[in-house]
Amino acid sequence: KPNRRYTIAVIPGDGIGKEVMPEGVRVLERAAALYGFTVEQRWHDFASCDYYARHGRMMPEDWKEQIGSPDAIFFGAVGWPETVPDHISLWGSLLQFRREYDQYVNLRPARLLPGVPSPLAGREPGSIDFWIVRENTEGEYSSVGGHMFAGTEREVVIQETVMTRFGVDRVLRYAFDLANRRPNRHLTSATKSNGIAITMPFWDQRVEAMAANYTDVRWDKYHIDILTAQFVLNPDRFDVVVASNLFGDILSDLGPACTGTIGVAPSGSINPDGTHPSLFEPVHGSAPDIAGKGIANPVGQIWSAAMMLEHLGETEAAKAIMAAIETVLKDPGLRTADLKGKAGTEECGKAIAEALR
Ligand code: NAI
Ligand code: MG
Repeated sequence: KPNRRYTIAVIPGDGIGKEVMPEGVRVLERAAALYGFTVEQRWHDFASCDYYARHGRMMPEDWKEQIGSPDAIFFGAVGWPETVPDHISLWGSLLQFRREYDQYVNLRPARLLPGVPSPLAGREPGSIDFWIVRENTEGEYSSVGGHMFAGTEREVVIQETVMTRFGVDRVLRYAFDLANRRPNRHLTSATKSNGIAITMPFWDQRVEAMAANYTDVRWDKYHIDILTAQFVLNPDRFDVVVASNLFGDILSDLGPACTGTIGVAPSGSINPDGTHPSLFEPVHGSAPDIAGKGIANPVGQIWSAAMMLEHLGETEAAKAIMAAIETVLKDPGLRTADLKGKAGTEECGKAIAEALR
């Protein structure tokens, strides 16, 4: 944006979402002051179970009008299973955004940070650093199919995978563009064309066709079974990994799990066309078990702010936030309890804001 003024819809949601969001916003504001752009925050109390308790629904009927057209949505976490069943809280909020805003890319990093012990032995910070790009609107998660003769001996269930050239090409384009901007310029495609013999060969074919437009990007493909093994055995091989909805769902949990605690992992649900806002949020949920104690790790929320700024084109500020996160995580005294530290949410968040340069 030439004027570098960004309107951000801020939706903290439930539980620790309300505790980590102020830290995300604190760092965002500090980055804006240091790097010379403006963030206009628009807070919303809906998409939360508190809102549900008052209104009997997760969001107002006119939520789209209320949100308007912000440059991005900064989200905390939603869910309070004690009062609202998870399928209602999730379908009534986040999944509405994903669908209505055509957020067809789900983006997650797998990056090993200092102070975050990896469950993989012998891996040093920096040795794992890749992105997982998941198709987020079609593929295996389709509503094409049916259930017949329920409860009888003839019972039959069918759910078809739907891949469109439009849907596959647009997520591949995003992944190749991302790989093209990275120093290693390497893309890996997840496939299973030996077993799923119609849709997956099509996926492979589209990867090959798209690769022809990106001659500087090296690319390869792995069958999903061996790919999951390689995530654990040789995570240093990967730079950008692109996958269909189901494979991407699995890989985007496995990748970040290989790099440590859920408290630090961020994600983006992205509409790369810019016709609708994209949403950035930590991977974790509302953590009812620790909510209200002020001990949640704010790094997932703050890293999400960095992803959001990168998406908005504020690359320098995004890099600076990552550097500040790394500086603070190196200091055991500033880590939160999930990283065996004693710092609270606010102390950790303030330290990251102060470490920003
Ligand atoms: P969760 O991610 O909320 O918690 C899992 C475990 O990780 C808990 O022991 C929690 O204390 C810990 N944890 C999570 N984030 C942490 C942080 N920042 N710092 C320190 N520890 C942290 O997942 P859970 O318990 O399965 O779900 C709780 C609620 O959150 C449910 O209602 C669920 O539907 C919802 N949820 C929402 C998501 C979202 O908003 N995108 C994603 C995942 C779950
Ligand atoms: Mg998942």
